[in-house]
Amino acid sequence: MARISIIGAGNVGGMAALRILGEKIADVVLVDTAENLALAKACDLQDARGALGFDYSISAGSDFSLISGSDIVIITAGLARKPGMKREDLLNKNAEIIESVAKEINKYADKAICIVVSNPVDVMTRYFLSVFNADRFRAFGMGMNLDASRFANLIAKKLKISPNKIKAVVLGAHGENMLPLPRLTLVEGKPLTSLLSKDEIEELVKQTVSRGAYIVNLYACGSAYFAPSAALLAMARAILNNSQETIGASVYLNGEYGIRDVCIGVPVILGSGGIKEIVNLQLTKDELYTLQTSADSLKSNFNLIACN
Ligand code: LAC
Repeated sequence: MARISIIGAGNVGGMAALRILGEKIADVVLVDTAENLALAKACDLQDARGALGFDYSISAGSDFSLISGSDIVIITAGLARKPGMKREDLLNKNAEIIESVAKEINKYADKAICIVVSNPVDVMTRYFLSVFNADRFRAFGMGMNLDASRFANLIAKKLKISPNKIKAVVLGAHGENMLPLPRLTLVEGKPLTSLLSKDEIEELVKQTVSRGAYIVNLYACGSAYFAPSAALLAMARAILNNSQETIGASVYLNGEYGIRDVCIGVPVILGSGGIKEIVNLQLTKDELYTLQTSADSLKSNFNLIACN
């Protein structure tokens, strides 16, 4: 059985554990410096086995040696947004946490594929890569496939159809500068731009960009976790099944899209070993400009951490 370790036993970590165990794709290890929280979630998840009538294995603790032998490590540790906060407001505190987690993974699971979730995810992924000893295709961030899932859901509601008929494309930063692409988004094979008016599409794009903040405001004390954990499951499944499907991820670019030395959301082919390939979408001049501008702002944020 494959082994997935989840660092951070908060809402996203706990729900990701539940989803992974429910699909029986891996044993799960839940690690949190708040040991009792990790133990409580693991006990609670173990107790569910009787009622569900099937077996799975979850262990937990605060000791990072538990993650030894992991195929995948998911990093959710860090503070979540509160109402009124941008993901960028978490920059320095979460960078400290990411640095110490990356060092532990180097020590105990340096062969694992790492998926960073902590926010601001693009900058945290870049920072993680500066500490974790791995090439860029083995450590990347989750954000873009969550944004695409949100865009697909909003389109589905508007058109009153199932989201599984929609292939939504969103690029760029997992933040205010994200770039939903209606032109490349397909509904039963037809571009979204042929099905809705410009104004209707603009409204859906706006809602997609602010969806995370909208949910933070509704919760008033936390951020989304059902959809983020589903987006994580999709990535873990693609890696463990070697499905080689196209999924959005925040990946270190080295000249792709004319961007260098920054992690940002682009489509990738995901399979065993991590990213097989970065997909090069044909963008218009304007789209490329927006993507590159958003990469510049991620770079400035990364430099803010490096200066500390
Ligand atoms: C969100 C967090 C995961 O968008 O960034 O809900």
